[in-house]
Amino acid sequence: MDRAPLLLLLSLWALTGTVSQQASGSCPERLLGDERRRTCPRPCKDDQDCGSKRQCLCDGQCGLSCVAPGRTCPWPLPQSETSDARLLSPTHSFSALLEVRCKPGFMLPSGLDATIRRCQGDRQWSGDEPICTESPPAEPATTAAAATAAQACPLPPEVTDTFSIEGDAAAGTSIRYSCLSGADIVGSSENFCQENRTWQYPHPICKKVYCQPPSEVEQGYVVAVQKTEYEVGFDIHYLCKKNFLLDGPQKITCMSNGSWSAAPPHCRARCLIPAERSRVVIGGAKRWPFDVTDAMVPHGENVTFFCKHPWKHCSFGAAQSCFDGKLQPPACYLEPTWLQYKLFPHRLVSEIDACESGDEE
Ligand SMILES: *[C@@H]1O[C@H](CO)[C@@H](O)[C@H](O)[C@H]1NC(C)=O
Ligand SMILES: *[C@@H]1O[C@H](CO)[C@@H](O)[C@H](O)[C@H]1NC(C)=O
Ligand SMILES: *[C@@H]1O[C@H](CO)[C@@H](O)[C@H](O)[C@H]1NC(C)=O
Repeated sequence: MDRAPLLLLLSLWALTGTVSQQASGSCPERLLGDERRRTCPRPCKDDQDCGSKRQCLCDGQCGLSCVAPGRTCPWPLPQSETSDARLLSPTHSFSALLEVRCKPGFMLPSGLDATIRRCQGDRQWSGDEPICTESPPAEPATTAAAATAAQACPLPPEVTDTFSIEGDAAAGTSIRYSCLSGADIVGSSENFCQENRTWQYPHPICKKVYCQPPSEVEQGYVVAVQKTEYEVGFDIHYLCKKNFLLDGPQKITCMSNGSWSAAPPHCRARCLIPAERSRVVIGGAKRWPFDVTDAMVPHGENVTFFCKHPWKHCSFGAAQSCFDGKLQPPACYLEPTWLQYKLFPHRLVSEIDACESGDEE
């Protein structure tokens, strides 16, 4: 009796927790090997794979599948001499939960007195038909194998489906749990199988992990549905508005510890070239600023200005970088006057000979 709330908690996580998640990280991959189901609905990645009447939902061991959410599982169930069935959900449609509890004096092959079944996409309740049999009287086991099994604590499938378990659950030994989903454990991650074949602690549960929405990117936009929280494995892609350059990752991913794989990027502005009547070097080419599109350079671009030698008649280059809309001319740069530019264009500092390498101060 005292195991029921725990079983319920676990099963609620294992069964409903994964419903309606679009991210593959939170729904198990389709398990074909040791599957108990005869058929699985068509696999999918998102609703678009499923046509108009179906949605891409997590269907237990079938993984993400095309399911008609309104489909129902058989209800009410025929009366049974040995068990009582009770709906735990308001309806008996897809993902609804059903508790089957053995009548007093009966139990399931797992050694528990209750199990939870989930309404699957194939309109069947999950798992095998539970069969409650009369609890065996506590008689000594006859064979060695039976004796070993009799000395182990029960590990219901809800637990083995949720955790990877280290240890063999034999009486008098400990096991360790880790969440198969990579999620955090809530509860004790270690348990002890007591001599009377009961666990010392309730089984833990796996907490579902989410990432919080990342901060907004100015002058950029997100190529994803905006949500209040994001599942593990969810990618957010970024784009920048026209004339802004992406500085940082193009994509960030929600990691299993609830953090994003990286901080969101920045969208960096172009810089106006702070010179008009001198040529400058951009990307290896010496150009008049008015010949450059919009007289602007992208974020991160280097612009070399020409400065006059303090006393010799020669020029040397001084480079500055554009950073997010800011590009300062170097302190040595003097903008020629309009008259200088018009009357003596070949005497402009940017047009005279470059200083010899030994000439610099
Ligand atoms: C099993 O043994 C433990 C400790 O010896 C005890 O606390 C617990 O009540 C026992 N459980 C049952 C069902 O007998
Ligand atoms: C999550 O893991 C990453 C690296 O694996 C680490 O940098 C980050 O600090 C972790 N975040 C939290 C909240 O633990
Ligand atoms: C600009 O110069 C810096 C430092 O010299 C260099 O690291 C960077 O790669 C240059 N940027 C471009 C776009 O050439």
